[in-house]
Amino acid sequence: MTVSSTRCVTLKLATSLDGRIALSNGVSKWITGPEARESVHRLRAAHDVVLTGIGTILADDPAFTVRLPDHDGRQPGRVVLDTRLRMPANALILDNAAPTIVFCGHDIPAHSRTAIENRGVTVESISRYDGPSVSIRSVLDRVRELDGDSVMIEAGSKIAASALSHGLVDAIEWFRAPIVLGGDGLPVFAALGLERLDEVPTFRRVGVSECGVDLHERYERRRD
Ligand SMILES: NC(=O)c1ccc[n+]([C@@H]2O[C@H](COP(=O)([O-])OP(=O)(O)OC[C@H]3O[C@@H](n4cnc5c(N)ncnc54)[C@H](OP(=O)(O)O)[C@@H]3O)[C@@H](O)[C@H]2O)c1
Repeated sequence: MTVSSTRCVTLKLATSLDGRIALSNGVSKWITGPEARESVHRLRAAHDVVLTGIGTILADDPAFTVRLPDHDGRQPGRVVLDTRLRMPANALILDNAAPTIVFCGHDIPAHSRTAIENRGVTVESISRYDGPSVSIRSVLDRVRELDGDSVMIEAGSKIAASALSHGLVDAIEWFRAPIVLGGDGLPVFAALGLERLDEVPTFRRVGVSECGVDLHERYERRRD
């Protein structure tokens, strides 16, 4: 599996049939089956950078590394959006398995920053905000300056909605499990605040295949 275009932002989603990513109590492991999870590792391996939000780190403590028996060892860089630097100093993502940058806002207490930097991880402040959080567009611009041309977003509802509403998502890799989590489950996208159907983000389906018991749908952004 390769990423055909450079400067590409891929959004990976793993949901129930009804587009939920977690139960109302936050439990989300594992919605999809082992074949889908292996495909996600292959997608990670095909991208320069995996981008996530602090909500996912606090809920799941993921490493976001490629773990495959036939993998050559190259790991994608990891980027976390964490405006207030709530990152726990013992988070798995700070494990030095791959270059990692935590993007935060300004006015962060020095001791919070030092605790993360002491793990060998870069902390960078972003000056632009989207509401209360750092600007995801500014983070992606910075990631590209650092040669991260292909980025895969693996995050919760808020980052997914933020990337989508700013028109930053070029492709979606959607793994859909044959389960229903119900309306009290966490939706795959947080509110988008849309009011007109001619302004909704629109995609073209470019592939659909079975992946174990799950369905793997692939979409590209329509910009016409
Ligand atoms: N099924 C799956 O594939 C999957 C994958 C990932 C997560 N999850 C589930 O998703 C849940 C977490 O959801 P979440 O929405 O809290 O996580 P998230 O989207 O990963 O992180 C959200 C947090 O990121 C920070 N952030 C920084 N810049 C942002 C921006 N520009 N836009 C939006 N957020 C920004 C915000 O906190 P600050 O303002 O403090 O920075 C925000 O609260 C957990 O239950 C987890 O298990 C499921």
